[in-house]
Amino acid sequence: LFSLLAVMMVFLSGCGEDYISTLKPSGQVGKEQFNLLMLATGIMTLVVVIVSVIYLLAFLKFRRSKVGENVIPKQVEGSHTLEIIWTVIPIILLLILAVPVVTATYKFADVAAMDEVDENGDKTALTVNVTAKLYWWEFEYPNQGIVTAQELVVPTGQKVYFNLKAADVKHSFWIPAVGGKMDTNVDNLNKFYLEFDKESKDLKDGVFYGKCAELCGPSHALMDFKVKALSPDAFDTWVASMKATDGKMPDKTSADLGEATFAQSCMGCHAVSGTSGPGSKGPNLTAFGDRNRVAGFLEHNEENLKAWIKDPGQFKPGNLMMNADGTAPIYGDLTDEQIQALATYIMGLSVEK
Ligand code: CUA
Repeated sequence: LFSLLAVMMVFLSGCGEDYISTLKPSGQVGKEQFNLLMLATGIMTLVVVIVSVIYLLAFLKFRRSKVGENVIPKQVEGSHTLEIIWTVIPIILLLILAVPVVTATYKFADVAAMDEVDENGDKTALTVNVTAKLYWWEFEYPNQGIVTAQELVVPTGQKVYFNLKAADVKHSFWIPAVGGKMDTNVDNLNKFYLEFDKESKDLKDGVFYGKCAELCGPSHALMDFKVKALSPDAFDTWVASMKATDGKMPDKTSADLGEATFAQSCMGCHAVSGTSGPGSKGPNLTAFGDRNRVAGFLEHNEENLKAWIKDPGQFKPGNLMMNADGTAPIYGDLTDEQIQALATYIMGLSVEK
């Protein structure tokens, strides 16, 4: 039964998906971490095999006493040779593991390039400030002056530097196929870099998956994000179109019911202008129509968005769109007509169309 369960675990581990598997790494960091994983697994397998063989041989060889049933066999107390062998071999094995792991740890934590500037004094490295919140992710590009949420957009073929922090409780930033995981803490920044060498096939499916890897509350398992890896040119185009949305705030007096409702009920927590500033309590919704998930994990369509707006607590228990006792959304009851208009307005926010 135990063996059967062990085999089932392999099937449950979901190792078929290219864009989420640690075993199909993309980018230099992911590949080096994969090699360390293989090294550790190799050494451990070798130890298990050798110990099992010795155990079986001893078991077979000494299972019956040669001197007869009623004689007490020779009593052996201690062996210096054996003790030296089983102390020295593990030390050697641990050194073989430790040297490359410590070297890689320091290498990926080398973020000195984050502070390099060009002749105009502008920072040259691509830096993303990641803030983990209950239960979503904010991505700010300080050198480009843009903010987005839930979908990290990165260029391929260069180092992307991350400043990681949490706004409320401890979370952990993990893109299994690319690298990590790295804790996000409330009171200190963690820094590292990743590299992306595989472009997202198309922006709806071929994206890398990101996860929260630290138990943080009832909706921890739903704290996902997506990563779109674009060619450097496509990335520059995306940055330019995000910047073009700067300052386009919804208007309470708009003739469009969705826009007016957004300005009335949502704008206190959600920005749609591509920048940080007011409305950073909830995810920035700039270009929401271009994303491929509602709330990070629901299929991206208007029906799901309407259901989410009507009762977000049903999907992500404990999320901050609900009042303190989790019984109703903090923006009160919206009419069906308002919810429909709001969903149409939010889905229409796009920089790709
Ligand atoms: Cu955030 Cu688990």
